[in-house]
Amino acid sequence: MARVDFTFGGLDLTTDDRLLEPREWTHEQSTWAADLLPQLPEGPVLELCAGAGHIGLAGVRGSGRRLVAVDREELAAPTIRSNAERLGLTELVEVRRGDLSEVIAPDERFAMVIADPPWVPTAGIGRFPQDPPGAIDGGDDGLSVASQCLAVIAEHLLPEGIALLQLGTLDQVAALDLPGDLVVDEVREYPRGVLARLSRLSRAAGSSR
Ligand SMILES: C[S@@+](CC[C@H](N)C(=O)[O-])C[C@H]1O[C@@H](n2cnc3c(N)ncnc32)[C@H](O)[C@@H]1O
Repeated sequence: MARVDFTFGGLDLTTDDRLLEPREWTHEQSTWAADLLPQLPEGPVLELCAGAGHIGLAGVRGSGRRLVAVDREELAAPTIRSNAERLGLTELVEVRRGDLSEVIAPDERFAMVIADPPWVPTAGIGRFPQDPPGAIDGGDDGLSVASQCLAVIAEHLLPEGIALLQLGTLDQVAALDLPGDLVVDEVREYPRGVLARLSRLSRAAGSSR
């Protein structure tokens, strides 16, 4: 395992050079999560497509909430555990290796879901030769893993919970086929990607009153 140390939002963390290189801008997703968590119902946080786990760990740090971090890549699990240990969060972090559609029990519910799926259409992944294909390949339309994430969110988000989904472009957010009663209630755009906040229709309607 080729360890690479990096700084993320001021935190000293580690990754493996065979995983996607963490992007500093994605700390915006952690910050947004941390800002929202105090308003959310009790319950754990689920991080889908966690990679080195930095986004979820930085988001829940200080909240006292349990974090379930999911990634199918074998190298991700020891990396997330190592980062949890660095942050003193070992007792609160559970790592699950596997396909995100298969590792959540039917009765599990989460106050927040953080998701960072691959979003590059398969035909375009050659433009990013430095990135592991499995970390960026989002299928024909770039949204196949994002769709899997949405299905998990629709099934496992608490009624008053919130999900934060990272994608590449505003057009991708507009193209999402939202399952169940999920709605996008805010989108933030950055030079290298976008973050969409999702909730259930009942929550979104309540918050606008
Ligand atoms: C865009 S990378 C993001 C990784 C990390 N969040 C980061 O910021 O570097 C996508 C991650 O999703 C994982 N992944 C892709 N498809 C998956 C699936 N079906 N189930 C679980 N993990 C998946 C990849 O292994 C990769 O680590």
